[in-house]
Order: sequence, then C-alpha cells, then structure tokens
Amino acid sequence: MANCSEKIRLGKSDVFVPPMGIGIISWGSKHMGYGKSYSNDDIWQAYRTCLDAGLNFFDTAEMYAKGESERILSECQRKDGRPIIISTKFAPHSLVTPSKERKSPQSLMKALDGSLKRLRIECIDLYNFHVPPAENMLDEYMDVMAEAVRVGKVRAVGLCNFTATSMKWAHSRLTEHGIPLASIMVGYNLLRRYPETNGILDACRELDVTLIAFAPFAEGVLTGKYRSGGTKIPGIYRVLFYLEQLDLLKERGESVSILKRLFSKPRALNLKKLEPLFLTLEEIAKNRGKSIAQIALNWLMPEDGNIIPIPGAKNVRQVKENTGAVGWYLTKEERMCIEKAEIASR
Ligand SMILES: NC(=O)c1ccc[n+]([C@@H]2O[C@H](COP(=O)([O-])OP(=O)(O)OC[C@H]3O[C@@H](n4cnc5c(N)ncnc54)[C@H](OP(=O)(O)O)[C@@H]3O)[C@@H](O)[C@H]2O)c1
Repeated sequence: MANCSEKIRLGKSDVFVPPMGIGIISWGSKHMGYGKSYSNDDIWQAYRTCLDAGLNFFDTAEMYAKGESERILSECQRKDGRPIIISTKFAPHSLVTPSKERKSPQSLMKALDGSLKRLRIECIDLYNFHVPPAENMLDEYMDVMAEAVRVGKVRAVGLCNFTATSMKWAHSRLTEHGIPLASIMVGYNLLRRYPETNGILDACRELDVTLIAFAPFAEGVLTGKYRSGGTKIPGIYRVLFYLEQLDLLKERGESVSILKRLFSKPRALNLKKLEPLFLTLEEIAKNRGKSIAQIALNWLMPEDGNIIPIPGAKNVRQVKENTGAVGWYLTKEERMCIEKAEIASR
C-alpha cells in the first residue's frame, strides 16, 4: 500500500497531517446506508486500514449523524489506541443554519464542549466554522474561537465554505489575536473547480492557508462506478447535487438566477456528457496501473500544492483504493489532458 507518512503543516499552525485525510460524514448516518450497506464492523476495519497506511487525519462534525460520527470515531480511537488528528466543526447561526440556540457567538463554547465530550478528548486539533456566521457577527465569533484556543481546547482554527472575502476578514481578525488561520475546507473536485476562479486558491497561497478539499469524488461519481448506468446514484446524493446547485454559499461566483439554477440538471447527474472525461481518466489510469478513482483523487494533490483531499470511505476496499492515490504525481501533460477533457465535458 502507498506510504502516507509524509506530513503536511496546516497553514502556519503546529498541526501536521498526512497528504490525505478521511471524511466520515457517513459514519453512523442511516441516510447514507449505515446499518444497511455497511456496518460498524466495516467502519472498524476501515479505520484500522487507514491507520496501518499512515492515514490518521479524520474529518467529522457535530452535525454528522447527529453526533454519532464523532462518537464512532472516538470508539475506534479508544479500541485501537494509536494517536489520530481530529478535525470537527461548529455551525454558527447563519442563513444556512438559522438555529435560535446559536444566535450568540458564545454558543461556540457550548458546542465545543459537546464535541469534546462525544470525542472524549480535551483538545480538538482542528476546529472549524462549518459555514460562515452572519457578517455582522464574524469578528465576535472569531474572538470567541480565539478564546477557545487560549484556554487550550482548540489547537488550530479552520473555516469551511467561506468566500475569499470573508476568509480574509476572518484571517485578519484571528491574526489580531496572534492565531494563524490553518485551513479552509471547500468543495473541490474535477466537476467543481470553483476554488480556482472564485479567489479561494489565490487567497490560500497569499495567506499560507491549507485548502482541504471535501467531496473529492463528487459523492462517488468521479470513481466512475455510476458510468455504465448499472448502479444508480443514490437519492441522497442527487438531493445534494441540487442543493449545491442553488449556491447558497456563493462558491460559484456566477450571476445566474435562482430559478435557472433550480431547474437545470446538476452536472454530476449528466453522465453521458461526462463520458469523454471518464475516457481520459480511464486511459491515464490504464497506463499507470491505477484506477479512475485514484487518478481523480491524485489530480487534487499537485506536487507544488497545499491541498489535502478528504475522501469519504465506508469500508476497507474503498480505503485501500483511495490510499493508492498518494505517494506519486501526475505529470504536467497528464494534468493538462484531464483538465482539457473536463472543460470539454461542461
Ligand atoms: N465542510 C463541509 O461543509 C463539508 C461538506 C461535505 C463534506 N465534508 C467532508 O468531506 C468528506 C468527503 O466528502 P463526501 O463524503 O461528501 O464525498 P466524496 O468523498 O466525494 O465521496 C465519498 C463517497 O464516495 C464513495 N467512495 C469513496 N471511495 C470510493 C471508492 N474507492 N470507490 C467507490 N466509491 C467510493 C463512498 O460512498 P458510497 O459507497 O455510498 O458510494 C463515499 O462515502 C465528508 O465525509 C466530510 O467529512 C465537509
């Protein structure tokens, strides 16, 4: 299996992680097949396979399976005993998460204690804002996060789904507290290349912040397994693609009306149109003795990049395949070929 022992520093923080993490949004989630298509034992075996390969960076959130994802991760860690690096998230009051309980920035502390309890640890390695807070409360939220770092409950601070402008704002407020912004987590994959054009990748380079790429397979579509039409894309992923299309988090940087977005077919569901891209990935995969999934994942990890993908995985087979995307690099020519095919498939 590939060696994932290389360590990458998250921004200017003192947290170091392997070149790839593991997303565990599905662990414990019945909507995502837990208890049906995969079991607790599958998760346990997948967890151990990750650690055997040197993949010890896990991404969870208070809201994943209503806290069950954090609990399962903690159980695995206790049973296995080896150290891991944990990223988890807090959802502040915002347009996307309009919870009354979260109106005050102080609610971050309560949420943080909840995560620490479920994870059964005293300090979280990377604590993230799951979505940006309302603009007029951003400074105050950053101040409370800084306090969480000061009291030793958080080692490094991350953002998710911020625009480049709000990211810079958060970065500057944290800097006033002497805290470096470690990372920003956004959707990034071959079908969702907005970070290249919406200012996020540029801001990461400028501010020395690591980009953590979620949904690197576009929920499994980029593994090629739905290509032949034999396996149907699960309903929950279809819903996600339509939600993503609404662009509530303004990642696309386009001025397309909400109605047009609502009624156009998400790209990930238009498999016929994507076929030329799959053919290109397949050819490169064949030449390299790799799979389509490994090529799609490796594309996210250029040699000179500061990008860490966090593919979701539910079983040993998936972990082993995904691990094979680490430890080598696509050539410049191969990358150009893939990017050309991606553009042609739009
Ligand atoms: N911060 C945020 O706002 C945010 C948002 C979304 C996700 N995330 C994080 O990012 C992580 C990854 O995103 P994601 O899980 O949504 O999407 P993803 O990584 O693009 O897709 C993961 C899914 O693909 C399938 N898969 C994985 N490896 C495979 C392989 N080798 N062969 C075939 N199928 C494979 C599995 O589902 P099936 O077996 O069902 O096909 C898996 O659950 C999440 O787990 C979460 O931690 C963060």
